[in-house]
Amino acid sequence: MCPMQNPFRYGAKVTGGSFYDRREIKASIINVIDGCNNAVLYGPRRYGKSSLVAEIIEELSGKGVVCVYMNMMDIASLGDFIVEYSKAVAAKTAPVTSILKHLVGLFSRVRPVLGVGDDGKPELSLSFAASKPGAAELREALELPEKLRPKGCRMLIVIDEFQEVAELGLGANFERVMRSVIENHAEISYVFLGSKTHLLKRMFAKPSRPFYRSAQLFSLGLPPSDESREFLIERFKSVEMKLSDVVARKMTELSGNVPYYLQELGSWVFRNVSERGGKEVREADVDAGYSQMAEAERDLFESFFRQMPESQRLVARALATEPTGVFTADYRLRHFLPMLSTVSTAVRRLVADSQIDSVDGVYRLIDPLFANHLRRAGKASPLTTAHNM
Ligand SMILES: Nc1ncnc2c1ncn2[C@@H]1O[C@H](COP(=O)(O)OP(=O)(O)OP(=O)(O)O)[C@@H](O)[C@H]1O
Ligand SMILES: [Mg+2]
Repeated sequence: MCPMQNPFRYGAKVTGGSFYDRREIKASIINVIDGCNNAVLYGPRRYGKSSLVAEIIEELSGKGVVCVYMNMMDIASLGDFIVEYSKAVAAKTAPVTSILKHLVGLFSRVRPVLGVGDDGKPELSLSFAASKPGAAELREALELPEKLRPKGCRMLIVIDEFQEVAELGLGANFERVMRSVIENHAEISYVFLGSKTHLLKRMFAKPSRPFYRSAQLFSLGLPPSDESREFLIERFKSVEMKLSDVVARKMTELSGNVPYYLQELGSWVFRNVSERGGKEVREADVDAGYSQMAEAERDLFESFFRQMPESQRLVARALATEPTGVFTADYRLRHFLPMLSTVSTAVRRLVADSQIDSVDGVYRLIDPLFANHLRRAGKASPLTTAHNM
């Protein structure tokens, strides 16, 4: 008999049967897009922003909206952005073989070249008139969607991890150029996604910034935990395994109800049950699955932790064990934290970096698995390199 396929997916965007909840926010964002307005969707890492937008793209593509998706995570420079953005737009508005025809003449400062990629397929590259592309070249690329938009078609442009544009060297000029170009695109909606909540909120909600009030802001929180439990129960049922409500509750709690961890834990638990040939998920499968998941994430957390400045490491570790609203002298002494001004700066940076947030005035780590990792690592080797002052 063929073994059952693991019903859990994690890592990449998920849609269809692997996707649950998010109905209200999905409908609201589609409503904004239908009105040809722009939206910003922000939320912590691994909460499901890219998946939600993939669902939206799937639905709108079915209705004839031309949807373009681009992720800023892979972009290293302004030149890179111009090339990848133009390619992404052209790929959705013109057949590959005629992309060149479409692009020649549309650019005055950028020269499109059609070559052959490693896979033997036609590949578009761009060369720049100036040795280093700047605002003028950016403007030309940003004007492409309107120029290439098929007659009578609405368009949606999604830019994922949008806050990264700040790293492209143009500073606020990027935002100024983009705002001035896209405000003339009446039939095109722009959706900006990002996990650096603070950066994005400032970009779109601060009066001094070019994007001020140019988009409706949406925050993606955790899904309702009863829907998470139902999802787990249904996924196990799809492979003829029974998950009780009590064990589903335990899985939701252990994963902090974060969709990524819910699916990762589900995946490990499924393996454990399969390996023993079981038909019902036991608590022991979940305990083992949680350890396997923590182990699988360890390298990533360790290298991430190593990259943090020491004061941030100390604060993160303290908050993992004891969330707090006030860093009193006692608290700092207990957790080997440096002086208050250093702690305050570290806290500000951790907030800006979306590592910690404050809920009802209490700071805590956003990622529950990272918090767990720090608690465990803290027990194994106390970090006592800093002294109270
Ligand atoms: N609505 C959902 N239903 C089921 N699983 C989901 C959902 N949203 C996210 N996930 C799970 O979380 C994982 C990460 O989702 P996604 O990449 O969409 O998150 P993200 O917020 O874009 O993360 P990042 O900030 O790291 O880019 C998915 O691979 C999937 O396992
Ligand atoms: Mg994403």
